[in-house]
Amino acid sequence: MAILDKHAALEKNATLLLVCSFLAVTVGGIVEIAPLFYLENTIEEVDGVRPYSPLELEGREVYIREGCYVCHSQMIRPMRDEVERYGHYSLAAESMYDHPFLWGSKRTGPDLARVGGRYSDDWHVQHFTDPQSVVPESVMPKYAFLKNRLIDPEHTAELMEVHSWVGVPYTEEMLENAEADFRVQIDPFGDIDGLLERYPGAQVRNFDGEAGISEMDALIAYMQMLGTLVDFSTFEADASR
Ligand code: HEC
Repeated sequence: MAILDKHAALEKNATLLLVCSFLAVTVGGIVEIAPLFYLENTIEEVDGVRPYSPLELEGREVYIREGCYVCHSQMIRPMRDEVERYGHYSLAAESMYDHPFLWGSKRTGPDLARVGGRYSDDWHVQHFTDPQSVVPESVMPKYAFLKNRLIDPEHTAELMEVHSWVGVPYTEEMLENAEADFRVQIDPFGDIDGLLERYPGAQVRNFDGEAGISEMDALIAYMQMLGTLVDFSTFEADASR
């Protein structure tokens, strides 16, 4: 065929092939990459998604330190079995403030992307203290010690600042109030208005029921907010994108 004959010329001339390959890759690259510079955001913004409160962020640190992501994913895939078990599939926006992201890959335990509100705080305390007392066949390790490790929020503002360097929109006001916001989230009698203004929907209570703010408090505060920020009764995916 004629067109194949023309291609034969290309295949027999290394220089011509190189020049044409270069041109093909250049055009392909421009078509794929250039539009990204004109998009303001590659993540669809979703109402309700906000940066973590200081207490939640500290809880997330415990989650990372303890390697919970080694056994748990935080990414509900849009497949029927997962959606029926865990709820609406995860949206990109829901992990837009996660640095690093904690999607995980090994699913030894259940997905935790929407574990918020599924169990009571007491259940979590009991489960972290001794998982086998709640689920006898569980292979999850015990984390009872978290209750005895109090968190000093001295460096919480710095932690938030580091997150702001990589794009989390923590404001000056949030950084200044980091320590106060950290303490007030477990104090039901505290002055919580500022906290709720800065972090709408933050859950305020003594999570582990004990005096002092422990890693148990922080971890449960983090668990209880996972997947709760977006109101899926009103959420509609933007099909135009
Ligand atoms: C060795 C793997 C492993 C590790 C590490 C692990 N888990 Fe689990 N986790 C499991 C398994 C298996 C289950 C299911 C049985 C159960 O509920 O204990 C589970 C259950 C859970 C549940 C209940 C979820 C549900 O929907 O029923 C939560 C919450 C949880 N883990 C949180 C954590 C946190 C937080 C950490 C880190 C501090 C952690 N896990 C570390 C294996 C693990």
